[in-house]
Amino acid sequence: MVSFFNMKPPTKRQTKDTDLVMPPTKQHLTARELFLNHLAQTTDSPLLLEIKQAEGIYLIDQQGRRYFDLISGIGVSNIGHRHPAVVKAIKKQLRKYLHLMVYGEYVQLPQVELARRLMLTLPASLNNFYFVNSGSEAIEGAMKLAKRYTGRTELISCLNAYHGSTQGALSISGSEKFKTAYRPLLPDVRHIRFNEPSDLELITQKTAAVVIETIQGEAGVRIPDKSYMQALRQRCTQTGALLILDEIQCGFGRTGKFWAFEHYDIVPDILVSAKGMGGGMPIGAFIAPKHIMEVLKSNPILGHITTFGGHPVSCAAACATVGVILRNKLPERALRKAELFKKLLIHPRIKSIRSAGLMIAVEFESAQVTKAVIDKAISYGVITDWFLYCDNAMRIAPPLTISKEEIRQVCGILLKAINKATNASSDALLREDV
Ligand SMILES: Cc1ncc(COP(=O)(O)O)c(C=O)c1O
Repeated sequence: MVSFFNMKPPTKRQTKDTDLVMPPTKQHLTARELFLNHLAQTTDSPLLLEIKQAEGIYLIDQQGRRYFDLISGIGVSNIGHRHPAVVKAIKKQLRKYLHLMVYGEYVQLPQVELARRLMLTLPASLNNFYFVNSGSEAIEGAMKLAKRYTGRTELISCLNAYHGSTQGALSISGSEKFKTAYRPLLPDVRHIRFNEPSDLELITQKTAAVVIETIQGEAGVRIPDKSYMQALRQRCTQTGALLILDEIQCGFGRTGKFWAFEHYDIVPDILVSAKGMGGGMPIGAFIAPKHIMEVLKSNPILGHITTFGGHPVSCAAACATVGVILRNKLPERALRKAELFKKLLIHPRIKSIRSAGLMIAVEFESAQVTKAVIDKAISYGVITDWFLYCDNAMRIAPPLTISKEEIRQVCGILLKAINKATNASSDALLREDV
């Protein structure tokens, strides 16, 4: 008997080529014109690269020019572009299902498998996962969770912190320049100085949570002392404030450990992740012990809602990403690769290099010099960037899969770019001995 459950699916409608053709416009606009005129612009000077294909650490433009991507789309492509394992996982999931239902109702295998895999990388207490679509969204969820769990309202974060661009995340970000135009933002937010132990006393029994990047990214790769992070953990425990670590940029293998907090022998109450997690697909998460996460279930129910959070294709991609990072021991190897960058990038115009594994800031004397070097490097086919709150440093955050030979190549090009951009007379050449 044919029941609803064993009925044959209807035959597929064939897609005709004409379905994909846009109606003709009077005037044919180039992609660049469409981009400039019809996509929201956020600066007056977008990079305007037109990328046709991306593979590994390379971006290829419409003219077939190859660029070394030394910023991984800002900390996203940690395992390189279109990693075969990610592409395979996506294709496999595409054959099964796309979106099924809003978050939290159906048992979806990619979501539960991702939770299982992430647990292999985490301390036992961090055993409950809320998957969302982006870093800002994960921060929003974490902030709400902390307020609900503690019944407190005050949030403390750091000066020069970047936690995202939605209104809650912006409220706790630590740059007045980016906030002023959008006030009023969230009330009851206080800022402390990053890595300044004397400010920890501002954390009190009124504090719901301290939100802090384990390693500050947009401030230009700022690495806190172990003693500071341990004192912070202790102060939060003493006062009952939750410690929320934002590892959206510094997580997922980049700093030499799978999670950056592992460098500090501490465990957060809530961990926030995104960016590199999806291997190029959009996904984020806030992660907490089950007894904390459980407050989202009642008074009111549905304490945090998302339609697309934990999208099955993104979760499948993230599962593959975790596998690639662990199997290839990418965090450990990132440390050795970072050492090579530091050995090779020696030039009189480089003032200092700060590095947490392959999260690297190369500091120059001024913003002008930094910009000139970045522009020159792009013209030579190497993409780097500056930092939101640190314009005299160049960002280097390549895919962790970059090879030593590729590091030698890009460092040679970068030294040439520094020479050219600064008219340096000393021809700082790539050292042959490293
Ligand atoms: C440390 C940190 N937190 C939060 C965010 C926000 O993530 P998203 O852009 O995915 O919203 C970013 C993005 O750069 C980040 O670097």
